[in-house]
Amino acid sequence: MNISKTFVFSFVLSLLSVTGEAAVTFLYYNCPNTTTFTPNGTYHHNLNSLLSSFSSNATRDNGFYNLTVGDHGSTEIVYGLFLCRGDDTKDICQECVTTAAKEIVQRCPRENVALITYDECMLRYSNQYFFSSVQREPDLQLLNTQQVSEPGRFMDLLGKTMDNVTAQAANDPSGKRFATAEANFSSFQKLYTLAQCTQDLSVGSCTECLQAAVDYLPGCCNGKQGGRVIFPSCNVRYELYPFYRAVAPPPSMLLPSPSPGRKGKRQVSTVIIIAIVLPIVVSVMLFAIGICYLTRTRKGSLKYAGVPDKSGGNEITTSQPLQLDLATIETATNNFCADNKLGEGGYGKVYKGILPNGQEIAVKRLSITSSGQGAKEFKNEAATLAKLQHRNLVRLLGFCFEGEEKILIYEFFPNKSLDYFIFDSEKQRKLDWLRRYKIIEGIARGIQYLHEDSRLKVIHRDLKANNVLLDEEMNPKISDFGMARIFGVDQSQDKTDRVIGTFGYMAPEYAMHGQFSVKSDMYSFGVLVLEIISGRKNSSFCQTDGAEDLVSYVWNHWRNETPSEVLDPTLKGSCSTNEFLRCTQIGLLCVQEDPADRPTMATVVLMLSTYSVTLQAPQKPAFCSWTRSGQNNTLKGLESDQSASKSAQLSVDEASITGVYPR
Ligand SMILES: *[C@@H]1O[C@H](CO)[C@@H](O)[C@H](O)[C@H]1NC(C)=O
Ligand SMILES: *[C@@H]1O[C@H](CO)[C@@H](O)[C@H](O)[C@H]1NC(C)=O
Ligand SMILES: *[C@@H]1O[C@H](CO)[C@@H](O)[C@H](O)[C@H]1NC(C)=O
Ligand SMILES: *[C@@H]1O[C@H](CO)[C@@H](O)[C@H](O)[C@H]1NC(C)=O
Ligand SMILES: *[C@@H]1O[C@H](CO)[C@@H](O)[C@H](O)[C@H]1NC(C)=O
Ligand SMILES: *[C@@H]1O[C@H](CO)[C@@H](O)[C@H](O)[C@H]1NC(C)=O
Repeated sequence: MNISKTFVFSFVLSLLSVTGEAAVTFLYYNCPNTTTFTPNGTYHHNLNSLLSSFSSNATRDNGFYNLTVGDHGSTEIVYGLFLCRGDDTKDICQECVTTAAKEIVQRCPRENVALITYDECMLRYSNQYFFSSVQREPDLQLLNTQQVSEPGRFMDLLGKTMDNVTAQAANDPSGKRFATAEANFSSFQKLYTLAQCTQDLSVGSCTECLQAAVDYLPGCCNGKQGGRVIFPSCNVRYELYPFYRAVAPPPSMLLPSPSPGRKGKRQVSTVIIIAIVLPIVVSVMLFAIGICYLTRTRKGSLKYAGVPDKSGGNEITTSQPLQLDLATIETATNNFCADNKLGEGGYGKVYKGILPNGQEIAVKRLSITSSGQGAKEFKNEAATLAKLQHRNLVRLLGFCFEGEEKILIYEFFPNKSLDYFIFDSEKQRKLDWLRRYKIIEGIARGIQYLHEDSRLKVIHRDLKANNVLLDEEMNPKISDFGMARIFGVDQSQDKTDRVIGTFGYMAPEYAMHGQFSVKSDMYSFGVLVLEIISGRKNSSFCQTDGAEDLVSYVWNHWRNETPSEVLDPTLKGSCSTNEFLRCTQIGLLCVQEDPADRPTMATVVLMLSTYSVTLQAPQKPAFCSWTRSGQNNTLKGLESDQSASKSAQLSVDEASITGVYPR
């Protein structure tokens, strides 16, 4: 089987490097090179037309399409099909099939027979007729390495639920051959299962295929919290968390009794077991949610009708920055009325406003002296920032620049900011572990976009819990990047005389020497992660009263091998120990003293999304020694950071790969 570590690794990287576009998660491909075709020959030509027809037919209702291309009777016929997961939205199906069609020819440039599988879809073709027959090879088995608490009872429940869900899928009256089912394992743990066949199979063939797949589960995934078996013709999956989108439940029906002999032996043909992990899935779901969100936003397209605008028309598309005149903003905010004030930050005051069309906005009025930038520079910068678009960034809708006034206009989110939730003993409960993990991932992706993926390189400089807003679905939206510093492409660090930021979140080199870089943002991110998982505020970075700051507190528990003491008590129960430890470690890696030791955000996103990246042991964080000794004798590391933050790219050293076990 042709799945190599390097391949998986480089794939993950390439996935990350595509700005939020790659919403699909690659799992596996297979194309034995036993028979190949001639480049530019008839088969090649037929294959190309098959694949392009797939891309254009991927929005079909049922998420399945089989096709034959080639002259009847010729030996150059291509048979192919694609199948989207039953709960995919049309957009995701389309995206997955398009991606699959593109990637399969890169991975299998000359092979007659090929298959590629993603979380969201699969695509295969062959020069042999294969429709309506059950194919179980090559198979892929994936498991979530975490153990369940009562394996015996769990596997029993799993067997029963799987029998139900496979029968439902096979008999699905819509012909979609897809079903999901849930069962209660304990009062707080629910089992989620999914089964799906390709739609060319008959009821009988689908049942046969799914039962064979289910029979593999005790072998691959005994006592594990999640597992999947993926055959070319069908697949099954289970997890202890909802990994599929809610779909209308199929009408219930009488189910055929399950076949006995669950533990029966099987011929092992080609078995790959990859330790696969929750975070990947979580990130996929996040992606999916993001996509839905984006699509919705795009469809519901923000309209600024009625806003006076010099560029003409009343309706302006989202990508254009909007220059508003002062009078409009004064009206919207009731003349910057104190009642409308939402908050005050380093740069000025923030007001809530309502545009004539009813849209709520947050208006940030920069204090007159806050920026030494020239008028033109400010305007350019605001216009550029207004073009930054990422689902984890609050959108800068526009700006106003008149006389002394410098004003930035943002989306408004009524749900307040992260600090409102995580530091309040009651509201903490609203954010369970999964939610918090998603928030951490969302923040990481938003910052990664600022640092690397947008066409600009933007350093936020004031990342903190107050600056992370939450939308209705508790998705994080980083705000306040409007006064962030935009770097030239080759520039990696800068120095300022005017240190703006928040104590407790500021990297030492920035606080003391005004040096900021992507790595000073990483420091703030690290503090934020530690706050999110502990529910404690990092009140100050160098307390003189000897009280322990959060970073030292976490570091001490980490060093004493008692990290679980750090966990926010309201998370006990909902928390995955593995993920918690990983987040703790990531937080500590980010607050390391030497900026060069801190990971980049791309690395962090990778660390969060896969367990196959081994984390380094964190070094002593920046402040605890400083705080505790109260002396200035540990500043050495800070002086030497001129060369520190050279590069913002992910190096292979930073993320070594283990834990992928091809067999
Ligand atoms: C098939 O792949 C193997 C190993 O990758 C290689 O040694 C062999 O030459 C290939 N055969 C053909 C026909 O390309
Ligand atoms: C196939 O066709 C393309 C352009 O159509 C050409 O660039 C390429 O060299 C051809 N390959 C072979 C092996 O003939
Ligand atoms: C599939 O796509 C092709 C174009 O590539 C189009 O001609 C055909 O009608 C489509 N089929 C369906 C069922 O939409
Ligand atoms: C399976 O389905 C039957 C009939 O719908 C139901 O009574 C039973 O509780 C289900 N079992 C599980 C484990 O979901
Ligand atoms: C699981 O338990 C909840 C209550 O805790 C109940 O409402 C639900 O119907 C149960 N689901 C199943 C599949 O038994
Ligand atoms: C799709 O598969 C069915 C068998 O399930 C077959 O009868 C049909 O001809 C196939 N369609 C195409 C276009 O190949």
